[in-house]
Amino acid sequence: MATLLVTGGAGFIGSNFVLDWLRRHHGDRIVNVDKLTYAGNRRSLAAVEGQPRHVFSQTDICDRAALDALLATHRPQAVVHFAAESHVDRSIADPGAFIQTNVVGTFTLLEAARAYWGRLNAADADHFRFLHVSTDEVFGSLGADDPPFSESTPYQPNSPYSASKAASDHLVRSYHHTYGLPVLTTHCSNNYGPYHFPEKLIPLMITRALAGKPLPVYGDGLNVRDWLYVGDHCTAIRTVLARGRVGETYNIGGWNEKSNLDVVHTLCDLLDALRPKASGSYRQQITFVTDRPGHDRRYAIDARKLERELGWRPAETFETGLRKTVQWYLDNPGWVKDVTSGEYRNWMARQYAAA
Ligand code: NAD
Ligand code: DAU
Repeated sequence: MATLLVTGGAGFIGSNFVLDWLRRHHGDRIVNVDKLTYAGNRRSLAAVEGQPRHVFSQTDICDRAALDALLATHRPQAVVHFAAESHVDRSIADPGAFIQTNVVGTFTLLEAARAYWGRLNAADADHFRFLHVSTDEVFGSLGADDPPFSESTPYQPNSPYSASKAASDHLVRSYHHTYGLPVLTTHCSNNYGPYHFPEKLIPLMITRALAGKPLPVYGDGLNVRDWLYVGDHCTAIRTVLARGRVGETYNIGGWNEKSNLDVVHTLCDLLDALRPKASGSYRQQITFVTDRPGHDRRYAIDARKLERELGWRPAETFETGLRKTVQWYLDNPGWVKDVTSGEYRNWMARQYAAA
């Protein structure tokens, strides 16, 4: 029986990872460490709540004593680190929490992991892994004709969010180089899928379309992102955890570059087919709003290292993944209602006052 300590396992990607792991590995146990910020939602974990294989701890990754106790009690073979402040717009409005969790929190977790790892016997220490989940945003912004980001693209973060993630990546790298901690780092592109908090583009557009609200597209809508279905990200992380080379970084992407406007049009067309309005198209709700400050123009990711070395490939196309996602939101109005807490409503009122 293996034990994994997962941070941020009540968030979007973390909850998908936890559910997926426990579905596949019946003998394993996950210790899920999450502060439950506005983005953490235990309802996403309903399928595993109460199971002894899922131990939930409401803990801040900045709390060293609590991390030490969790590691000593549960003795995990790996740490998978998702916990972060993750929304770029929030990092522009209020960067402090991003420095605290993404930089100080990652540092605190690394220190706790280093101390724990240092006390393991040689065989266990050799097998231990610290997998750090990072983002393609640390590489900055591409021009229309630039090649996609590779693992050796220089860092050029442009928002407080991506700068804080870049800082955490550097700390992780240094813990391997200096102390020998067996780390792995992944850089993934934009995820979408079930349990995605509706402040991010895809769930925001689905939920606002269904509520009859304007669909706020920033700037000219021609910024480009690479999109990956969250289940494929989870498979990639499992693959890197099992077979990744210690100290290496791996890019993860879907080969699905789309402009924001293309994404919103496709979502509207899917909703027109799956939940038609009494009259007209959801496209009529699209509205162009003031651009995000410092808005990165294009992200694209070269995931060939992961494909070549470890044989990973995404299973979903953008079309199949997006259809599944829209259907999930149509089938789960209770989950959406539950996450739209008071704090979320305040954020929406501030951010989209003019939309
Ligand atoms: P999310 O915002 O949905 O979830 C973050 C989770 O971390 C929440 O459950 C929150 O409660 C928890 N958390 C926040 N601060 C904490 C703290 N101090 N201590 C403990 N828990 C804390 O984020 P997500 O979209 O699931 O992203 C997960 C990770 O993946 C992040 O590290 C993010 O940078 C990275 N990532 C995300 C994407 C994406 O498209 N969403 C793409 C690439 C990488
Ligand atoms: O690239 C990986 C990153 O993807 C992750 O590291 C981040 O955690 C994750 O939030 C995401 O960052 P983005 O800024 O790309 O995602 P977001 O959903 O906020 O925005 C996607 C694009 O849509 C971006 O170009 C901004 C635009 N947008 C977003 C919102 C919320 C709009 O046009 N309107 C909106 O209301």
